[in-house]
Formats: sequence, structure tokens, C-alpha cells
Amino acid sequence: MRVITTIQEMRKEISKQKSHSKSIGFVPTMGFLHEGHLTLLKKARIENDIVVLSIFVNPLQFGPKEDFSTYPRDFARDQSLAECEGVDLIFYPSVEEMYPHKTSARVIIQDRTDVLCGKSRPGHFDGVATVLTKLFNIVLPTRAYFGTKDAQQVAVVEGLISDLNFPIELIPVEIVREEDGLAKSSRNVNLLPEERAKASVLYKSLTAAKEAIDKGVRDPEAIKTLVSTMIRSESNGKIDYVEIYSYPQLKSVEYLADIFIIALAVQFSRVRLIDNIILDLGQEIGGENECFDT
Ligand code: PAF
Repeated sequence: MRVITTIQEMRKEISKQKSHSKSIGFVPTMGFLHEGHLTLLKKARIENDIVVLSIFVNPLQFGPKEDFSTYPRDFARDQSLAECEGVDLIFYPSVEEMYPHKTSARVIIQDRTDVLCGKSRPGHFDGVATVLTKLFNIVLPTRAYFGTKDAQQVAVVEGLISDLNFPIELIPVEIVREEDGLAKSSRNVNLLPEERAKASVLYKSLTAAKEAIDKGVRDPEAIKTLVSTMIRSESNGKIDYVEIYSYPQLKSVEYLADIFIIALAVQFSRVRLIDNIILDLGQEIGGENECFDT
């Protein structure tokens, strides 16, 4: 496994691999790897000749009051985890390497960002899309792997790849959870112990929503109330949003049908956590009510 810190060296290595017709699986991350990332790496390892992991905490996607400086970082640990997963190349650039001067071009996302995290974090997805455009142009991946915990990110990246014609296959990978249901996230370490003990209510509330839907509830407002009430009664987290939208279009729904996402974001004292489930009622007309979550 090689660690590469410059764009020039990365380009040299990628063009060598491409000249041997190697397929490249790319897992972009901000580091502090957890099992969710390892699942992406495992899948990339199975499906590609070369696996590239990028580790870059991208300042462009953090708002001025957000956690860029406290975002957890541990490169030595990430490196040994990556080695265990059979990663071939780690791209680990500095901020100066990625943004050496005030940039004159950036990517603006015009659709699907006026809701959920896009609404609470203005400019966030422009920052994500800009860094991904740079990373895609440097790594030239065959396939790129993203976790569906950031379901809005997956929807935005799908639009980015298709609208800007990147010849890349997007592979969404389902959420990996702790034993108590809390979605794995690099940010979980910033929960206080008493907050961590109660944070399982996020997934419990989504599971309760799914149960209510399985029993026939179709009013999105009733489901949102159920989820919010459970979170408020079982944790001290402050709800940023609990929303239901069609997926992946992220449009409002007045009645639950077809594929939709129930998504939530909750602010704890030092960290804001997100979670979601995506359900499919599309089979309902035939009598079978198939639900799945991600
Ligand atoms: O999901 C993340 O970790 C980041 O948003 C990404 C995709 C690596 C871009 O910085």
C-alpha cells in the first residue's frame, strides 16, 4: 500500500494503472474510518483491480460555525485499517495541495439541496460536489462508493455524475449500525457518554415509524410526529429536522407511497448526527407490502 500526498504523484500512479487497463474502485472519505467505511472498502476490493482511498477533511463543506477543527482525525489508525482492507493507494493531500489559492471555479448544486442537510447547512453540498469533482478528476475511478447514511449526499452525487458526465459508476452501500442501532459515524466519538447511552433512540424512532407504516399509517405528518416525540422523550438532543421525501428526488409527499426517505438530524452538545431509512411501498398494489431499509 502506498500513501500519496501530491496530485502530481497520484496522476502518475493512476495513469500507470490505467495503461494496464486496471479498474479503479474509489472510496472518498474524511478519515477516522469506522466499520461503515470498511464495508465500502471491502466492496471496492471485491469489485475492482485497484482500490483507492482518499482521506481529506474538506474545509469547503463546513460552515463557519461547524466542526471542521474538531472533526476527528487519526491518520496512523486509518492507515493500518486501510492496510487490513487491502487498499492499494491512499490519497492523503493537505488543504494547500487541494486548494493552493483562492479558487476561481466551484461546483454549484441546484437541485435537491433546499431540504434536509442542504437547508440546515447552506453551501455544504457545493463544497462536497467541488471536492468530489476534483477527486474524480485526479483518481479517474471506474466505480465510486458512498454510504447511504448520507442519503442526500448519494442523491446529490448521482446528479453530479450524471449532469457532468463523469464516466463513473456510483455504488451506494447500506448503513452499518452499532449493536444498539446507532448508525456508525466518525462523529459518534464526540457524543458525551450520557448522550451516547441515549442516542440509540434515533434508530429506534425510525424503526417505530416503519412499524406504524407496516400497520397501514400513510400520513407523513403522523409519522414525523411519532419520530420527533420519541426522540424528544428519550434524549436531550435538539431536533434539527425530521422529514419525509420521495427518494431520490427529495420532493415533498402528502401520502406515503412508492419509495420515500424518513430522514432526521439531531444536534447533541458537541455533535450533530443524521440517520434515515428508505422504504419502498411500490409493491403495495399487488397486495405485497415490501419494505426495506438502508
Ligand atoms: O462523506 C464524506 O465523508 C464527504 O462528504 C466526502 C464524500 C468524502 C467529500 O468530502
